[in-house]
Amino acid sequence: MSNRLRIALTKGRLQDKSVELFERAGMDCTPIRHPGRRLIHALPNYPLDAVLSKAPDVITYVEHGVCDLGIVGKDTILEKGGSFYEVMDLGFGKCRFALAVPEGQDFYASYKNRTIASKYPNVASRFFAAKGMDVEVIKIEGSVELAPILGLADAIVDIVETGATLKANGLVPIETVAPISARLIVNTASMKLYKNEILDFIEKCEKYRGEAAK
Ligand code: PRP
Repeated sequence: MSNRLRIALTKGRLQDKSVELFERAGMDCTPIRHPGRRLIHALPNYPLDAVLSKAPDVITYVEHGVCDLGIVGKDTILEKGGSFYEVMDLGFGKCRFALAVPEGQDFYASYKNRTIASKYPNVASRFFAAKGMDVEVIKIEGSVELAPILGLADAIVDIVETGATLKANGLVPIETVAPISARLIVNTASMKLYKNEILDFIEKCEKYRGEAAK
């Protein structure tokens, strides 16, 4: 195997789980675990170079072919979209998009136009469009749970993992919008150019993803 592949990893929780998966597959991830000030981390015993990025940038790098591979949450894929192959559900980073409302509120009771706050306006808009409901979606950059408390929105569409954040803010999830987990994505040209290298990497992920998901 001659060509080195480049992978973009989503910083944070998904990065930790990705490294765990690679190590189970026998890859030495010391350079990623001790990055110093370097931005590209070459694995010493496998032809893979890793960059650490914010989730939407993972998609941008893979779409543009500056990274052959990426690991990113389905949440970002659903919101941002893009042109790449989504080849595998890695099984970790599991959570869901949910519609949540203030406790005791019957969201579907009235015919008035509802306002929805979300960090994921495309996901929220598509969800209600599929129901044939006309809603106003307001994009919020963080702590979306505040929007109903402040009176800005009737409901939110947000990521729910344990449900603790919703509960602490008097909100209840009433519908799952979509399940979420980490996905392995591949640049379409790289898939053809470096087929053997990419298939070897995919095989390793496939074999060890179950253990990393625990
Ligand atoms: C997400 C989400 C919720 C929280 C849900 O935020 O926006 O606020 O996690 O988790 P829970 O159901 O276990 O309480 P995250 O921690 O990813 O931070 P962010 O607001 O910066 O996106």
